Amino acid sequence: MCGIVAYVGPKQAYPILINGLKRLEYRGYDSAGVALLEEELLVYKTKGKVSDLEEHVQNANLGGTIGIAHTRWATHGEPNQVNAHPHFSQSKEIALIHNGIIENYALLKQELQTRGYVFQSSTDTEVLTNLIEDIKLNEGVSLFEAVRIALNQVTGAYAIVVMDKNDPNTLIAARKGSPLVIGIGQNDYFVASDATPIIEYTKNVVYLDDEEVALIRRDKDLKIKTIRNQEKTPYIQKLEMNLTALEKGGYEHFMLKEIYEQPTSIMDSMRGRIHLEQGTVTLGGIIEYEQKLLNANRIIIVACGTSWHAGLVGEYLFEDIARIPVEVEYASEFRYRNPVIYERDVVIAISQSGETADTLAAIELAKSKGATILGICNVVGSSIARATHAGTYTHAGPEIGVASTKAFTAQVTVLTLMALRLAQLRGTIGRSRFMQLITELSLIPEKVEQTLKVSKKVIEIAEKFKDVRNFLYLGRGYNFPVALEGALKLKEISYIHAEGYPAAEMKHGPIALIDEEMPVVVIATNKGTYDKVVSNIQEVKARKGQVIAIVTEGDKEVKHLADYVIEIPETEEMFVPLLATVPLQKLAYHIAVMRNCNVDQPRNLAKSVTVE
Ligand code: F6R
Repeated sequence: MCGIVAYVGPKQAYPILINGLKRLEYRGYDSAGVALLEEELLVYKTKGKVSDLEEHVQNANLGGTIGIAHTRWATHGEPNQVNAHPHFSQSKEIALIHNGIIENYALLKQELQTRGYVFQSSTDTEVLTNLIEDIKLNEGVSLFEAVRIALNQVTGAYAIVVMDKNDPNTLIAARKGSPLVIGIGQNDYFVASDATPIIEYTKNVVYLDDEEVALIRRDKDLKIKTIRNQEKTPYIQKLEMNLTALEKGGYEHFMLKEIYEQPTSIMDSMRGRIHLEQGTVTLGGIIEYEQKLLNANRIIIVACGTSWHAGLVGEYLFEDIARIPVEVEYASEFRYRNPVIYERDVVIAISQSGETADTLAAIELAKSKGATILGICNVVGSSIARATHAGTYTHAGPEIGVASTKAFTAQVTVLTLMALRLAQLRGTIGRSRFMQLITELSLIPEKVEQTLKVSKKVIEIAEKFKDVRNFLYLGRGYNFPVALEGALKLKEISYIHAEGYPAAEMKHGPIALIDEEMPVVVIATNKGTYDKVVSNIQEVKARKGQVIAIVTEGDKEVKHLADYVIEIPETEEMFVPLLATVPLQKLAYHIAVMRNCNVDQPRNLAKSVTVE
């Protein structure tokens, strides 16, 4: 969602800001803009991509060593130039960029209108800009104070950066609910929605907390206060990310690079956590909460999208080997449906970005009921990582492609480790079975490497089906979440309608869709309900559907029935999702490329969904 970059220091701001916006493109957006201050406070903005903005400002004055820049993902008002950020205040003395939603903007707007303010855009952001100006003028306070006071009148979520024509040395930044990071350079400051625009300049960062306002001045120390006027000491952290992780590294798209990174990202998510010699699994981040997990009545997993699919695999794992009841909830439903939450519940929040607004809200709700909250996040220092009592990072490295790939397999890896650890503590599986499982799990990166070699077959299938309008994905048991995830990947990047279903549910409705036009992807690996899935394939074939089957190497039965077969290596049933997902990611990728879709930035989607 919206991306924020700001700079103050000795260098020219424009190149840093544009470069930063390009780093944030992966978040998803529909317009872009920049404000620079030299003698004048100048704002340039345009609908479209950052490259459109660059074209738009080709002959403009781009001087200045202070500036703010923004990519907007439309919420209030259509994506056009007027609604793009930065927004000027009425006097054009204040410029502001914003990520989030000001929920009471309509009321505030009415009040400002009665005081003579005229609005150019339909955004909530322009309302906040004028509110700050109004307070600054009427109360005769500094910009910092005006922002602080204004934010006390606002409900909703925000990450903002504000600058004032009359003060070329100062930026004000504040956040609530939407992320904001301040980078501290040698003698300059950077502000951004996440660390990706900052990493090439400095590794020293301060993550603002909710309701904190930062006073960022050229050549002066950083000052932070809460909106209730309490001083805070900035806590400086070191970034561990490196720059190469943010480049495509020779791949055509980030998504493809990330698909191919999975042997490494899965390995990194297991590193130091499986101890084959001692026969144990340890998860340092949650070690102090193991007793809570052991005493838990049940586990509730909250997440959205792909992370929710990983949670579903988690449910099967925890119940299967650790024999503890699990509920998997869409965070957006959980937060509003008055759920029953006990103090002895353990809630596991899963999120790649660590910024998903619904997941954050679900955490806050569960926390208020006294439950223990553990996180599984990819982005270090993210809001969810900080809002949970404890957690385990996935260590998948930055995921830039909007469609989640390596984060999913890393989440499933961490859930597997958690389930194994819990099973060991609860004594629900014997030692030799435990050893068998952790030995096999440690071979998974190699098997993913092998699975990645299926390209030729996948490309042939993509070629054949790239123009269809619908796809059905079927799986049972551990492979049901894989079917959901395969369908989600296809629809988000190729815009082909795809549905994931438990294979046995097909006859309760979706079977009506099947004819010779309908490709049906079936995950039919050789364990668990294999025979039943074979029957489901027969049902599809009897109605002339076209079957693309994911099978275990050496499979004979499905090979005779299916039109296309993709083989994956033999493994334990519970680890199949880690392998079977990979060819489905590749299928979606190749179909999207063949349809000329923007694979890394699909239309309407945002990488980090910071509004509900
Ligand atoms: C799908 C996808 C989304 C995210 C969802 C949750 O490819 O990326 O469905 O999984 O928006 O995001 P996180 O994991 O960041 O909470």
